Amino acid sequence: MKPRIAIIGTGLSGLSAASALHAAGHEVQLFDKSRGSGGRMSSKRSDFGDLDLGAQYFTARDPGFCRAVARWQEQGWVAPWTPRIYQSRQGRLSPSPDAQPRWVGTPRMSALTRGLLGELPARFACRICEIFRGAQHWQLLDADGNLHGPFSHVLVAVPAAQASALLSAAPALATRALNTPMEPVWAVALGFSDKLPTPLEACFVQDSALAWIARNSSKPGRTAALDSWVLHASSDWTRAHLELPAGDVLEHLAAAFAEVLGQPLPAHAEHLAQRWLYARPAAEQAFAALADPQLGLFACGDWCLAGRVEGAWLSGQQAAREILDSLRDPA
Ligand code: FAD
Ligand code: NAI
Repeated sequence: MKPRIAIIGTGLSGLSAASALHAAGHEVQLFDKSRGSGGRMSSKRSDFGDLDLGAQYFTARDPGFCRAVARWQEQGWVAPWTPRIYQSRQGRLSPSPDAQPRWVGTPRMSALTRGLLGELPARFACRICEIFRGAQHWQLLDADGNLHGPFSHVLVAVPAAQASALLSAAPALATRALNTPMEPVWAVALGFSDKLPTPLEACFVQDSALAWIARNSSKPGRTAALDSWVLHASSDWTRAHLELPAGDVLEHLAAAFAEVLGQPLPAHAEHLAQRWLYARPAAEQAFAALADPQLGLFACGDWCLAGRVEGAWLSGQQAAREILDSLRDPA
């Protein structure tokens, strides 16, 4: 059978691998349970514009990733974001400018994964529940009972907790994923009819329920009608309030936002809340990707390296290398 590679997950790690495998001339088929690509880099369409509720921006340090970002900038998929940065410590707000280049998808974060997806074949709203091997090939079973396959290779590119269940055919890989805990984050967006009277556009927060504040409308290409803000709770606060109703979370985090700004907030015109159960790996790892070349089963994701956009991309590149190696040197 000619190699046919299934990739579960159209977040950045899955698309990073898909692009590399496609460029090497191989047939890939992507699957995602969501209606669009992006995963934790997706953007939420709302009555008050597109909101980046997950990844806020990314930095590029690895030379290969820096080259990829330069290509994406040429394509118009990403642009630099140079917010007025503040920090809040022990209730004290102060400007905290730096020289770190930061990138965002434009006109919304998900533009990057949409660009990478291009014309690659993908099935959305398709949750894969089980991966199993017939005599020689892999089949995937989705939540509606449909079978997909046959595939020579399967790459699982989903968060660790979800990956461990899908990797049960390779117990060593499944255990590795199971032993990589991930932390949750509550995210809230608020839209105000009048611009809030503050120069702040981004803020790293400590000693608060909040960890991060961003003026979404300050990012390049955003055309929101409202002054829109995204607030991220700290993982500690989120863990302690995991089951709190979204309305209460909004109330708490809006109050923490007012406290950081040191001014009462006007009534917001719009709001949204989203709980990310698997926002980021609890610790950095160094295995880059998981591979069982004999079985033809692989895994990647930010959790194999670091909970950052760059980590996800690098992990996808490593998984693609492992798959290409296994094709050159079949077990
Ligand atoms: P994901 O993006 O999670 O992709 C996995 C995909 O798999 C998803 O699309 C999902 O729908 C799909 N999937 C899962 N299970 C199945 C299944 N059974 N069947 C089919 N499809 C499935 N990083 C930064 O660098 N800078 C930041 O500012 C930043 N802020 C963040 C803020 C938040 C709130 C969160 C949640 C993350 C943030 N990150 C940030 C981290 C960054 O978003 C991630 O590191 C990166 O997007 C992970 O990509 P991934 O491909 O590994 O996983
Ligand atoms: P970075 O270099 O901008 O930030 C790294 C960390 O350095 C920040 O978290 C912050 O604590 C500190 N920092 C950076 N610049 C600062 C400044 N001007 N003033 C005060 N503190 C500053 O970006 P990097 O390394 O690419 O990290 C990406 C970002 O993604 C981080 O902010 C990280 O916390 C965030 N992230 C958030 C997740 C979430 O679920 N909320 C998940 C994964 C990453």
